[in-house]
Amino acid sequence: MCGIVGYVGTEEAQDILLRGLKTLEYRGYDSVGVSIKSDDGIKLCKMSGRVAGLESYLEKNRISGLIGIGHTRWATHGGVSQMNSHPHASFSKKIHIVHNGIIENYADLKVFLQGKGFYFESETDSEVIAHLLEYYCCDNFFDGLIESLRHLTGVFAFAAMFGEEIYIAKKGSPIVVGHGLQEYIFSSDLSGLSGRARDVVFLEDGEIAVLRSSSCDFFSFSGEKIDKQFMEVNFDSSESLLEGYPHYMVKEIFQQAEVLERIIQNYIDKNSIAFSFMNPGCFSELKKIYIVACGTAYHAGLVGKSIIEGYSRISVEVVVASEFINNDPILEGNTLCILISQSGETMDTLFALRKAKSLGIYTLAIVNSRFSTISREADEVLYSLAGVEIAVASTKAYISQIGVLYLFAAYLSGYKRDLSEFLDTFRQLPRVLRETFCLDSQIEGLAERFSSKNKVFFIGRGLDYASAVEASLKLKEVSYISSEAYPAGELKHGTIALIDDQTLTIAISSQESLNSKMISNAKEVQARGGDVLFLGKSSSHDDFSTFETLILPEFDSMFAPFVTIVPLQLFAYYTSLKLGLDVDKPRNLAKSVTVE
Ligand code: F6R
Repeated sequence: MCGIVGYVGTEEAQDILLRGLKTLEYRGYDSVGVSIKSDDGIKLCKMSGRVAGLESYLEKNRISGLIGIGHTRWATHGGVSQMNSHPHASFSKKIHIVHNGIIENYADLKVFLQGKGFYFESETDSEVIAHLLEYYCCDNFFDGLIESLRHLTGVFAFAAMFGEEIYIAKKGSPIVVGHGLQEYIFSSDLSGLSGRARDVVFLEDGEIAVLRSSSCDFFSFSGEKIDKQFMEVNFDSSESLLEGYPHYMVKEIFQQAEVLERIIQNYIDKNSIAFSFMNPGCFSELKKIYIVACGTAYHAGLVGKSIIEGYSRISVEVVVASEFINNDPILEGNTLCILISQSGETMDTLFALRKAKSLGIYTLAIVNSRFSTISREADEVLYSLAGVEIAVASTKAYISQIGVLYLFAAYLSGYKRDLSEFLDTFRQLPRVLRETFCLDSQIEGLAERFSSKNKVFFIGRGLDYASAVEASLKLKEVSYISSEAYPAGELKHGTIALIDDQTLTIAISSQESLNSKMISNAKEVQARGGDVLFLGKSSSHDDFSTFETLILPEFDSMFAPFVTIVPLQLFAYYTSLKLGLDVDKPRNLAKSVTVE
């Protein structure tokens, strides 16, 4: 989703902004632009398309200057066009702004400003910020900013460049300011700082930063000066490199064994689980758990429900975050709400967290990005330790989320049972994943064979159904092939009408006890002319030899979700490549969804 970057210092802003914009590409965007203050005023350059396009234009048309702002836009209000791209300039062109979020009352403000003679060039909500600032800032910029903030409703992080200064205001959307030698750099996330600054400060809602090359001051929205300390962070910028892989998605799929090793190293101590909670007592008498998340993180929650209910016998409800916000949850005594998020910034999940807190429900965030808003606001946090995930389609974050959920299930049940067998099996997972990676070339061949299908169904039972849902999302995200997941027994209750020779059904069968039922369901599809790809374990190979098969390594079926998803992530990856698509940046998607 929209990304902001800005620089004020002693070096050429253009290069630093372009580097920052490239690292923000992974968030998902459709247009890009920069404004840089040169000797003869602020120069703006923006376009729809990729950062590479802006870069090659600016190579030939360099803008020299030491202060600048840049933006990657993911269209919400107004289509994808040069005019709707950011930055936006005020009427006099003296103020340039970039914005992430949504100004909810923009239509009223636009009418008001048009009445005062302001002319709008774009269809965006963001442009009102530039004109509003100009309207209120005629005498003193800072006072005008405070007045403007009183009139803006919605969610935003914006940066306004005026004179030799940049003013940043935050309400809802994230922004981090980094401090280097005689320079400040800011961005929507740590990666956008391009490793230039190790000392950073995260703005909180209702805070303003005023940046000059030599100083940075912080204020509240009411204009009072506030004290904020920069802190040192370790950000591994090698995570942002392809390191020999052709794409981030495949790099991240193959990193999944290491992710599990990191989880084992950090969270397992001999025969116990080493979570350090602020208030561990809160977990001992739980009556009910809500798991709330979006997309892939929600699918991790589906796995979490099975494992927590199976292991600790606590009732779990998994709710899509945007629905949880509107629901009226029934509180049954000691309740916990688990929020799962890779980015820690997803607006729906953040609002669900705030709702849970307002209802007095204790909250636990399972989050990948350190220092993210959700990790800061939840009562308890477990970091999922996936490392930086760049590809828009989530893979290693999912494995990390289910890894932490398995350990949390064991942690809850540890009040009653010995965990040694469970933990021994968990420790085997990195090895089993590495065996699964050996299926790579076979999967590439299968993707080649099936990439012309116009519809794919994923079916599974129990834990395999949760993998089916995630596998289906992965395929549709990166290949744009229509796909759906069904509990295997449900297909015959209607959807089987869609099966024909243009469809592929991928049957996931990792649970010995359900294997014969899965084979029957797959045969029902085959009997209607549909192709079947059957994922199963070698022990039952003879039974399903009539299908195209993918034999998974032997493993404990209770841990199946770690293993069954890997070949299906690879299948989605190779299908996307066979179709010639941009696998790391699929159309219309954003990595960090910071609007409701
Ligand atoms: C799918 C995907 C999305 C995210 C969802 C939640 O590959 O990446 O479905 O899982 O937008 O994002 P986070 O986990 O950042 O809250």
